[in-house]
Amino acid sequence: MSIRNDVSFATAAIHHGYDPRDHEGALTPPLHLTSTFAFDSAEDGAARFSGEQSGHIYSRISNPTLDLLERRLVFLEGAEAALATASGMGAISATLWTLLRPGDEILTDMTLYGCTFAFMQHGLGRFGIRVRHVDMTDIDAVAAAFGPETRLVYFETPANPNMRLVDIEAVCALAKARGAWSVVDNTYSTPVITRPVALGADFVVHSATKYLGGHGDLVAGVVLGRAADIQQIRMFGLKDMTGAVLSPFNAMLVLRGLKTLELRVQRHAASAQAVAEWLERHPAVHVVHYPGLASFPQHSLAKRQMALPGGMIAFRLKTGFDGGKRVMNRLTLIRRAVSLGDAETLIQHPASMTHSTYPVEQLIAHGIMPDLVRLSVGLEDPRDILSDLGAALDAECPALAPAA
Ligand SMILES: Cc1ncc(COP(=O)(O)O)c(C=O)c1O
Repeated sequence: MSIRNDVSFATAAIHHGYDPRDHEGALTPPLHLTSTFAFDSAEDGAARFSGEQSGHIYSRISNPTLDLLERRLVFLEGAEAALATASGMGAISATLWTLLRPGDEILTDMTLYGCTFAFMQHGLGRFGIRVRHVDMTDIDAVAAAFGPETRLVYFETPANPNMRLVDIEAVCALAKARGAWSVVDNTYSTPVITRPVALGADFVVHSATKYLGGHGDLVAGVVLGRAADIQQIRMFGLKDMTGAVLSPFNAMLVLRGLKTLELRVQRHAASAQAVAEWLERHPAVHVVHYPGLASFPQHSLAKRQMALPGGMIAFRLKTGFDGGKRVMNRLTLIRRAVSLGDAETLIQHPASMTHSTYPVEQLIAHGIMPDLVRLSVGLEDPRDILSDLGAALDAECPALAPAA
């Protein structure tokens, strides 16, 4: 027996899909560390392979611990089915390898996480799939970009690293009208903030390494969508193409992370709002990109589409790239590290780190300014985050050019 389906997000994140009475009273779900599953008979084994009998076969296809994680994520994202994978890139590659054929075209936003960009350009591109970038903040440009071969529309919102937003409802409606799949990377928002399926997305992908796991101790991913489509991705993109299977142990860690997801995201967002407002007032700061700021160009879309403005900030300094490096090197609490959504506040320089997969001459065209700094606001006391940033940024002020 499981809990009712109409419970709230925080309750489902703790209980959904699990009843201790089915597991000798164990409060915490068991960890199924097994690669394979024994069949009662040769006939049963054959029936599982043919699909006549349900049940697990081998952990590259399914595993009870992953199954619980998938069911819980299905509930939280409001999707029909989910497939947990070894990483966010595993989810993205298994999904796109399954849905696309040589000759197809993907329409994607200008700004993508660096390895997603690289996968599309070098992975899909090498096998005859065309990738067309379009400014998805401009809905007319998206409408005009569809061609006869467009099979799939892909975007992140907010986009990594510059925080630009894409109107999920509008772009997914266009994709649907043109007979194309829509895939939304919801890593930055999490289902606490945005649920793309309810806004018309066919698929949602996540790097569960980030907020879903939440503690910087695992790498994981997930794709969610309709049951028949997810089954295809499982049996082809995951089982036969990528083999990007999540370890049951890491699935367990993500399940643990989910229990506090709502609380953590609320705290990340409250602290990020305070940090973004403070950064915007600092004399060394040129511009702050954060959906919760009134100055953010897509602030009204953020209010419509996002329950909270999230925990990620991007900013640029008046002293440019060198200033950004100096500030990063002065920090003592905030960690210089890629990844995001961890308890620790992390800072990194996308152009030379997470987005160094873009050709240098294309960075600006893709909206990744060379001096942009990315901050993942953690769960520390925000006063300590501000004090660390304050010391590092105040020391930058003497380097500001004197007013003309
Ligand atoms: C928005 C986004 N999508 C996908 C990924 C890839 O996820 P993973 O590192 O878990 O493979 C990342 C990683 O940083 C990301 O930021």
